[in-house]
Amino acid sequence: MTALSRLFRTTSFRLAAAFILVFALNGFFVIGYIAYNTRVLINSQHVEMIDAEIAGLAEQYRVGGLRRLVGVIDHRSRRPGASLYLVTDPTGRNIAGNVGALPPGLLDEPGARQTAYERLDAPTDKPDELRQHAVVRVFVLPGGFRMLVGRDIAEREQFRDIIAGAFRWSVLMTVLLGVAAWYFVSSRVLKRIDAVAEESRHIMVGDLAGRIGLAGTGDEFDRLAESLNAMLDRIEQLLRGLTEVSDNIAHDLKTPLTRLRNRVEGALRNAPSEEGYRAALEATIAESDELIRTFNALLMIARVEAGSPDGAMTDLDIGTMLADVAELYEPVAEEAGVEFVVEAPAGIVVRLNRELVGQALANLIDNAVKYAAETGDDRKPRVELAACTDGGRILLTVSDNGPGIPEADRTRVLDRFVRLEQSRTKPGSGLGLSLVAAVAHSHGGEIRLEDNAPGLRVVLDLPASGGGS
Ligand SMILES: Nc1ncnc2c1ncn2[C@@H]1O[C@H](COP(=O)(O)OP(=O)(O)OP(=O)(O)O)[C@@H](O)[C@H]1O
Ligand SMILES: [Mg+2]
Repeated sequence: MTALSRLFRTTSFRLAAAFILVFALNGFFVIGYIAYNTRVLINSQHVEMIDAEIAGLAEQYRVGGLRRLVGVIDHRSRRPGASLYLVTDPTGRNIAGNVGALPPGLLDEPGARQTAYERLDAPTDKPDELRQHAVVRVFVLPGGFRMLVGRDIAEREQFRDIIAGAFRWSVLMTVLLGVAAWYFVSSRVLKRIDAVAEESRHIMVGDLAGRIGLAGTGDEFDRLAESLNAMLDRIEQLLRGLTEVSDNIAHDLKTPLTRLRNRVEGALRNAPSEEGYRAALEATIAESDELIRTFNALLMIARVEAGSPDGAMTDLDIGTMLADVAELYEPVAEEAGVEFVVEAPAGIVVRLNRELVGQALANLIDNAVKYAAETGDDRKPRVELAACTDGGRILLTVSDNGPGIPEADRTRVLDRFVRLEQSRTKPGSGLGLSLVAAVAHSHGGEIRLEDNAPGLRVVLDLPASGGGS
């Protein structure tokens, strides 16, 4: 019962039912149209034939009177496939013709009509039951004589039976073929849907790496499976990101928090003076600020990686944007004794998330200024911010002439909390480049670390039309 009701609730069943109904109605209308028009045609042919015969007989009567008319009718009645004829005298007695019996009173009224009758030569075992049908015309002759001319309509009735048979067959065939088509479609379609449902259940129960199989035909089900798989990829990626962030928080924030706690504890135990407490509290505030900054950076990376950047993409002039960023960082660079150069071409409009790309550039300039200051030799530290287009892409570069990053470390530094040994003395938490990489990916672009010989050149390679989310 439930299997049956489940079947009735399927789309394939409803579609099949709708199609069967449509085709049956179509058959009904086509056959009905043919039946009606054929009937009209046959009728008008009968009437025409009767009228022509009557005209001929009237002519015979006019020329030769009743005697001649009776002779002609006698003759015509005996021909094979003859029409129906009858001539009666005023008392109603048959004089000539091939009609055996008629409904009483039919001959009293002249005019055309349809009637039942019995042929003269037909075996009449039940005289009062008239079995044949005809279209007839009754004519009153001078002197009270009556003449009837008609055509049997058995042919028409036969045709009607054939049409009715055709209709029954067409409905039957429509239903049978519809049911067969429905069975074929539902057994294939339902099977694929069941397979997809089964596979999604497996994935749901825990096999998050599992994917829905494709039939390889490229049909709707394959496309559906592809979309579902893409969705699963994204979910897996987000989940992995989430796990990573919680791991990061658990591991990398634990150390500074413990340090903070120990410092406070140490101050409580060791500092008897007010200055001692003040110094400890100030150090605590500074360390808390650092922690908050790290937290914010981590959350921002997680948000950008989840594909929901704060603020939307906007069309903006890259020259103006670089000039704004430069204006913010020039004083910082100057203070650090670093020469800061901006090469901002005018008139290039690109589609970016201004806030995110601005933050990424800020992180890169911050790194360049921070690490280029220690060139080691006596060359003047220098940072260059530039932009150029390359086909449909916009390349934003931040270069410095500092110590650079060895080739082997260039992928590693993009990971969270990775800081190179040489920079341990500088403040920072190792999240700056991770955010830049996340911003690049969220725009559908990439980050490249290159050798500036000497120094580091970071290229932010983004689609100019705003590729990602
Ligand atoms: N321009 C550069 N020159 C030399 N080394 C660099 C440069 N930029 C980054 N690095 C190295 O890559 C590491 C990671 O950089 P990242 O910006 O991710 O973190 P950070 O600068 O140490 O800290 P944060 O940016 O979170 O304050 C740095 O610690 C540093 O060792
Ligand atoms: Mg940094």
